[in-house]
Amino acid sequence: MDGAEQAQAYADADFSATDQAMVERIAVCFGSHLGERIIDLGCGPGNITFRLASRYPSSQVVGVDGSGAMLAIAIARKEQQKQQQQQPPQGSILSGVVSFEQALLPSLQLKGGYDAVVSNSLLHHLHDPQVLWSTVRQLAAPGAAIYIRDLRRPADQAALDRLVATYAAGAPPVLQHDYRHSLRAAFTVHEVEDQLRQAGLEQLLVGAVEDRYLEVIGRYPV
Ligand SMILES: C[S@@+](CC[C@H](N)C(=O)[O-])C[C@H]1O[C@@H](n2cnc3c(N)ncnc32)[C@H](O)[C@@H]1O
Repeated sequence: MDGAEQAQAYADADFSATDQAMVERIAVCFGSHLGERIIDLGCGPGNITFRLASRYPSSQVVGVDGSGAMLAIAIARKEQQKQQQQQPPQGSILSGVVSFEQALLPSLQLKGGYDAVVSNSLLHHLHDPQVLWSTVRQLAAPGAAIYIRDLRRPADQAALDRLVATYAAGAPPVLQHDYRHSLRAAFTVHEVEDQLRQAGLEQLLVGAVEDRYLEVIGRYPV
């Protein structure tokens, strides 16, 4: 997703219902206070980052992504929101609690101590899934809330075709292509459980969500 055109197509797509559901799910799992510092890994154009900042106005939310094209959109959105709001309420996303940083994971430039580590739809993009789990270990403070959501690989080609027809039929061709590719590259619940065991993070729980997602939830060990 490095190209500007692809990044723009992603940013223009409406994921608001599933994005908001993810943020509400985080609130159900971890409550109304996530701590001072939240990081959103593979934040893209900031879809989840802005929603987290809105849901947790007293937290600082940092979005990290490897793609300059995605981050350019995220930063432009932040600027646009600032301009639209004449008198930003104190502590809102408009008073500067959202920031973005370019880093291609794995990255030693990121410093740890986050109270919450969140990620949506990054895992299946990584050539080595351990990159995500080692980044969680690098960034999470003891007791940090961890919430990771990703696509779940369908059982077979027919199931994959059904998902594409159900959820991407009206999408532009570039996004349909990406969605198909992403579903193929995604992991199963068992595969992610194995990854977590390998990473020494077996205390995190993996579950299937709806017909196409999986989630990883837990607290980083103290
Ligand atoms: C499907 S998008 C998800 C964006 C965002 N999390 C959301 O929910 O809208 C995947 C993002 O992961 C980023 N990404 C992929 N590999 C990465 C890596 N190794 N390091 C950092 N970001 C990466 C891509 O640039 C892209 O923005």
